[in-house]
Amino acid sequence: MKLWAGRFQKETDTAVNDFNSSISFDARLYQEDIAGSIAHATMLGKQGVIEEHEAEKIIQGLQAILKDIEAGAVEFSEENEDIHMNIESELTSRIGDTGKRLHTARSRNDQVAVDFRLYVKKEIPVIVGMILDLEKVLVKKAEANLDAVMPGYTHLQRAQPTTFAHYMMAYANMLKRDVTRLEDCLERMDECPLGAGALATSTYPVDRFQTAQALGFRKPTDNSLDSVSDRDFAIEFTSALSILMMHLSRFSEEIILWCSWEFKFVELDDAYSTGSSIMPQKKNPDVAELVRGKTGRVYGSLITLLTIMKGLPLAYNKDMQEDKEPVFDAIDTVEQCLPVFAAMVDTLTVKNRNMQKAAAGGFINATDCADYLVKKGLPFRDAYMIVGRLVHMCIKTGETLDTLPLKDFQSVSGAFGPDVYQALELKTCVGGRKVYGGPAPDSVKTQIEHIKEFVEAR
Ligand code: ARG
Repeated sequence: MKLWAGRFQKETDTAVNDFNSSISFDARLYQEDIAGSIAHATMLGKQGVIEEHEAEKIIQGLQAILKDIEAGAVEFSEENEDIHMNIESELTSRIGDTGKRLHTARSRNDQVAVDFRLYVKKEIPVIVGMILDLEKVLVKKAEANLDAVMPGYTHLQRAQPTTFAHYMMAYANMLKRDVTRLEDCLERMDECPLGAGALATSTYPVDRFQTAQALGFRKPTDNSLDSVSDRDFAIEFTSALSILMMHLSRFSEEIILWCSWEFKFVELDDAYSTGSSIMPQKKNPDVAELVRGKTGRVYGSLITLLTIMKGLPLAYNKDMQEDKEPVFDAIDTVEQCLPVFAAMVDTLTVKNRNMQKAAAGGFINATDCADYLVKKGLPFRDAYMIVGRLVHMCIKTGETLDTLPLKDFQSVSGAFGPDVYQALELKTCVGGRKVYGGPAPDSVKTQIEHIKEFVEAR
């Protein structure tokens, strides 16, 4: 018989039973559900809402159920709808009538809200830990490639010289923001909805501060209506995961490009690449492609949640049962992507010579050439115009700025001297960009230090 059968004259249609049930996916909240129930029962006992010995019996029953679930010895049923009623029914079938007292002053609405928050609170540090592991890989790659000059791009056109280390630190900074976004989100969700009841608390002397503390929350939520109708924490969390995946996806895209014969800036380790069933020469960056593809999945979760919530009146509506699968899927996806992505980056080989070659073409030292003239006293706009003409000249003759004869330089501006060649060397161009945040090895070392400090502080 259903826990809520009293008011009904008929059995639930079997199709409705299946349709309504969430146990197939919310079973993963069993630990949180039991923790919430133990905190609630303890509080009920202390407040004299139930007898202390009854609370004790309930707690022992719940602890035994937890053990048995972990051992695979508890079978959940669709009939009991969700994890909350499955555990409550199991408890009552084990300890008898005392089990029926557990749900005093509580509703599944505050119960599911607390379970879900506890679950997300538990997963955030796991994901942060994985991001920090990736940060360590980026630091390692950067330290090993401080002088590895490569072209930096805008519009995917060669633009100005940078280094592989500078590039790695760019991603490291994005990931750093992802960590702080998750930490912020954790901080905001750290309020306990338990005791909100169905929507309007209860008339029992419930101590919400006690349960909040017992469950490791900073404080109880401030408004009971809001407590049971709020899923901001899930949306904010999934949006932080979406941004994280967006970063991994951009990084993946670059790795995919860099692996192509057109670039060949990096070579993935054989263990992190795959072959083709027909083309014997192929070595494909499937891991990066999958991360890029799975990003769409995580975005999908975010859009699902936002769409579920957008038209709901307060407080709880059954629509909200649809909130768990997208969040679980986003968590699973991110936790699957991060370690394999980190290992892929860790094991890739940087092709210095190819990057150097690419950097030598495409006039990425043209800005430096203009800056050379500025240092000789010309206004930047004039210098810019002169170098534009020189580039045009080079394109016509198949020359690069580094190989253009001095007399050609001087035919456009008398300010050019033989020291221009040294100014145009890529090493000089990169080394000269010592500005805070720039690609010069010393600047990148500072960036590396900051990331290391950030990682170590956690
Ligand atoms: N399984 C439900 C969910 O996940 C639990 C809350 C049900 N509350 C209710 N009033 N029907 O949202």
